[in-house]
Amino acid sequence: MADYILVVREVTKSFGGLSALSGVDMKVRRGIMSLLIGPNGSGKTTLINTMTGVYKPDSGEIFFEDKPITKLKPHTIYGLGLVRTWQIPRPFHSMTVLENLLVSHKGHRGDGLVTGLFKSSWMKEEEQLVEKAYRILRLLKLDHLWDQQANKLSGGQMKLLETGRALMSGAKMILMDEPAAGLNPILANDLFIHLREVARQLGTTFLLVEHRLDLAIPYVDYVFAMHLGKVIAEGIPQQVLTNSLVVESYLGG
Ligand SMILES: Nc1ncnc2c1ncn2[C@@H]1O[C@H](COP(=O)(O)OP(=O)(O)O)[C@@H](O)[C@H]1O
Ligand SMILES: [Mg+2]
Repeated sequence: MADYILVVREVTKSFGGLSALSGVDMKVRRGIMSLLIGPNGSGKTTLINTMTGVYKPDSGEIFFEDKPITKLKPHTIYGLGLVRTWQIPRPFHSMTVLENLLVSHKGHRGDGLVTGLFKSSWMKEEEQLVEKAYRILRLLKLDHLWDQQANKLSGGQMKLLETGRALMSGAKMILMDEPAAGLNPILANDLFIHLREVARQLGTTFLLVEHRLDLAIPYVDYVFAMHLGKVIAEGIPQQVLTNSLVVESYLGG
């Protein structure tokens, strides 16, 4: 049996009289990169918000690593390792790239807590954290920028830094809503290449929402297509993109 990290069952969500999610079923396999597509207004962002606890569904259930998360608060879900990139506090612009990663570590202790008694074990822990941060930066090809201030980064590098911060926080699954927005095609390609590398080397699961299909499709393993608040097709990219229901949904059918 396949190992599903995230399972969504019959989830519905309405805003007033408008049904944004009308019975979403979705199972996301661990360790792969999935893409969620669908025309504007089909419910993609609402679904991501529901997965991360920002919205409570009207009905249905969501499981993360077999644990029901439907009623949990966003920060609790984040703590379990289901992380939406912008859920992480904005990068600290006056801090360096490395510092941004170090403060993202869960349970990071400030200098104020260091007492003489604990200093040596604290230093050991800090050393391991720095090592972990460097490993992540190398993976994201940001290591040469480690002492660069975050506000000097390009848009693409900032997205990578957000990813690095998510990884440092212990994310097992990362959700990104339109990560290529605002990036030129070359930088967008770079971003997807680096995300793939993270998925391959660390086994991190990604669920991306991206309307620039041409940019994202070459890098994803699996596609879910939504229309009118439901998943209407899923499978390998070529299958889903040629599915007649999916094609019609984009034509306004
Ligand atoms: N907070 C909200 N209040 C009212 N309606 C909303 C809200 N969020 C989304 N919607 C509506 O729900 C539907 C799905 O929106 P959304 O999830 O943003 O779609 P997508 O991300 O696929 O473009 C749309 O009709 C949208 O107008
Ligand atoms: Mg959206």
